[in-house]
Amino acid sequence: MTEEPAKKILLGVTGSIAAYKACELVRLFVKDGHEVTPLLTHDAERFVTAHTFEALARREAARELFPHLMEADLLVLAPLSANTLAKLAQGLADNVLTQTMLAYRGPVVAAPAMNARMWDHPATKENTARLRERGVELVGPETGELAEGELGPGRMSEPNEIYARCLAALARGSELREKRVLVTAGGTREPLDSVRFIGNRSSGKMGVALAEEAARRGAEVTLLYANGSVPPPAGIEVVATPTAADLARETLARADADVVLMAAAVADYRPSEPISGKRPKEREPWTVTLDPTDDILAELGRRRTDGQILVGFAADEGERGLERAREKLAAKRGTLFVFNDVSQDDIGFDANQNEVVLVSSTGERKIAKRDKREVAVAILDEVATLLRGD
Ligand SMILES: Cc1cc2nc3c(=O)[nH]c(=O)nc-3n(C[C@H](O)[C@H](O)[C@H](O)COP(=O)(O)O)c2cc1C
Repeated sequence: MTEEPAKKILLGVTGSIAAYKACELVRLFVKDGHEVTPLLTHDAERFVTAHTFEALARREAARELFPHLMEADLLVLAPLSANTLAKLAQGLADNVLTQTMLAYRGPVVAAPAMNARMWDHPATKENTARLRERGVELVGPETGELAEGELGPGRMSEPNEIYARCLAALARGSELREKRVLVTAGGTREPLDSVRFIGNRSSGKMGVALAEEAARRGAEVTLLYANGSVPPPAGIEVVATPTAADLARETLARADADVVLMAAAVADYRPSEPISGKRPKEREPWTVTLDPTDDILAELGRRRTDGQILVGFAADEGERGLERAREKLAAKRGTLFVFNDVSQDDIGFDANQNEVVLVSSTGERKIAKRDKREVAVAILDEVATLLRGD
């Protein structure tokens, strides 16, 4: 038995020649004292019977979507066939495994297994990218000799490797339990009149990915959302904060959170006298005076308590921008600054990918260009390290 409390594992098995390897995976979980509930597709049973899994797991396979399945700590899909992968990408729910995937909100680890050409097909690539975007962690497939005697990518990773990744996902899943995490996302809009505003290009993708990842790690998350273009995550508290003043008020009301991630692009200036109603079109120039807004991060820094993690985001340009992020870290009493270089078109504002430098008092770490969801994983890994005080 492990010293950690037993975890509840859902093991989805699909119709692949690699299904026999899932038996070993069950054995590894059970040996360490975890509870495994097998979820087999109809075709999985053409390869290995439910009896085998039930005997190894010492419990019945689930044949219906019972509510208690939703309380599991982890859903593992091994092997994941091209067919079920496509169904999951589309959100189909025609068997107990696909239904569970739609209803379950915890971490998911998937180990695809298929013929190399099936894996290489654009449809499979798109489906895989969709699952990744939704936070599914993929293990493999490995390159090697496939069942048909061909060589190529498609072979399911070994049970030991999948098991190690599952344990890591389980550890992450409870890392922020009982922590209150406040995330701000999107870009504020400062009214010029009743229909016009001064805004910015922030989509909210980075902040939403952070909120989702914090929730996945067991945190109690509040998202303060300013006009983002992506839907906020399901199942977490979301408060709309359209202007810098709204964002400042709602942030400071929750300034005692354990972790504050200030990913929103907050206006530095607002029109000093917004016009009530719509300003009619005239031939004269329209001169607007802008007043600086409050510096929320600096105020949070002043109020920061021992052990609280305060993360600022610096969208700036080039080496000089990075230098400014270092200066801000000290000036605003932040714990961590995430610098992203907005002089590059394909990352940062509105893009799906980001490349950042994590700047903290203990050092700097570059996170090479990757999906914003994966950047969120790296940032929260760093936050977890800082919380532990390592
Ligand atoms: C011998 C044999 C081996 C197969 N191996 C795989 C495989 O490794 N990966 C895969 O995606 N499909 C494989 N298939 C095809 C799937 O079994 C088929 O697409 C099935 O509809 C999958 O259903 P499921 O996803 O509901 O389990 C194999 C079929 C046969 C007959």
